[in-house]
Amino acid sequence: MSAKNLEEIVSLCKRKGFIFPSAEIYGGLQGIYDYGPLGVELKNNLKAAWWKSNVYERDDIYGLDSAILSQKNIFYYSGHESTFVDRMVDCRACKKRWRFDHLIEGKCENCGSQDLTEPRAFNLMFKTMVGPVEDKNSYAYLRPETAQGIFINFKNIVDSMAPKLPFGIAQIGKAFRNEITPRNFIFRVREFEQMEIEFFVKPGEDEKWHQYWVERRLAWWKEQGLSVNNLKLFQQSKEELAHYSKATVDILYQFPHGFEELEGISNRTDYDLGSHTQGQAELKITANVAVNKDSTAKLTVQDPPGQHFLPYVIEPSAGLDRGVLAILTEAYEEEELGDNKKRIVLKIKPRLAPVKVAIVPLKRNEASIVEKAKMIKKSIQSLGIGRIAYEDTGNIGKSYRRHDEIGTPLCITIDFDTVNKSDNRSNHDTVTVRERDSMQQTRIQLSKIEDYITSFFR
Ligand code: GAP
Repeated sequence: MSAKNLEEIVSLCKRKGFIFPSAEIYGGLQGIYDYGPLGVELKNNLKAAWWKSNVYERDDIYGLDSAILSQKNIFYYSGHESTFVDRMVDCRACKKRWRFDHLIEGKCENCGSQDLTEPRAFNLMFKTMVGPVEDKNSYAYLRPETAQGIFINFKNIVDSMAPKLPFGIAQIGKAFRNEITPRNFIFRVREFEQMEIEFFVKPGEDEKWHQYWVERRLAWWKEQGLSVNNLKLFQQSKEELAHYSKATVDILYQFPHGFEELEGISNRTDYDLGSHTQGQAELKITANVAVNKDSTAKLTVQDPPGQHFLPYVIEPSAGLDRGVLAILTEAYEEEELGDNKKRIVLKIKPRLAPVKVAIVPLKRNEASIVEKAKMIKKSIQSLGIGRIAYEDTGNIGKSYRRHDEIGTPLCITIDFDTVNKSDNRSNHDTVTVRERDSMQQTRIQLSKIEDYITSFFR
């Protein structure tokens, strides 16, 4: 499949209410975006698909929603205070700032100059004050990953849910990173959402589970409509690994700017529980962790009872915003329709589409049609499949084009045949269902419409 054009996707997102640059009326804030009426639906649908697959459809994974504002010890002991850094350089010629590892042949991306400052380490975490008194100890962090909220709740979940190994804890939520050079629309931003699982396993079974999660996560992205040609796996080299990881496999997607990371699946060993646990000395921790003098909890499991040990952790960590961008990229098509006409269509999976069905009355001021259309909207809305739009601009062709462009899988047109007991008895009490991808129109009995819709979106 050919690479897509980012500008066209960005333009569609703004024009149609998917994604807006944040605070545009005040000149914006770089690397921060707001999701509009359609973007929030798409994002929620993707989250729901992830939650269904990883929490509802499994008996071994528990959900969590931990706080964003994080006590500073969490990120001291996690290693983020000392190691969550990028190296930045400034161009002396044009004064632009860059991430050192993003530069090609050590040249400024803006002006090509090689007259750059020495790289300096820059910690990516956002610090903020907590409470009314500003002193040097009353700060907290906006979490740079949701994962740590899971590790610090490990004992709470073990005590309250009594899980047996292997088991996981899943969380979807905001993360914040003060990226030096946010870029490529919502691909690299400063505020984003992650969908993370920490899956706890017996040491020695970690490699098997790592492989399991790589395969499972790849299959899930395919189920969301990403094509196999646009996905590939990338095994990180020893030099590329994060400070906590023994092995990481990235799932790369062919974004408009090239193949890049959509999700990382890491073997975090006993690094995290080992870092946050009390009583480290007795626990034979294999990872290289800082001595913890502050933790009040032993983050172990007992198996058999009485024998405490630290589980290993496999972590599938996906970026939700990158997921949204991948799905938009995959779905965006411009199709020639003949007679010099073309349409933009978002061929998004029906269950992810922001609007599921558009109800289109043929005439917006014909009482009998309007009444019937509203009644049909209400009955389809009650199926609980998501957002149903009432589209009464009065021009059927334009309505279809508008809904192609935002990815609405079905339009239902209500016309005179729907409401009139006319001579054409065969069409009485029927509607036209028009399908987005094939553009085929089918006349369907009103009495069968709910069943039709339910099975279409199953
Ligand atoms: N807990 C592990 C972790 O946070 P990561 O590779 O730094 O690992 C996981 O991040 C995922 O979060 C990435 O695969 C990516 O999809 C997403 N992500 C990371 N930084 C991002 C950013 N600045 N903007 C958007 N998404 C980002």
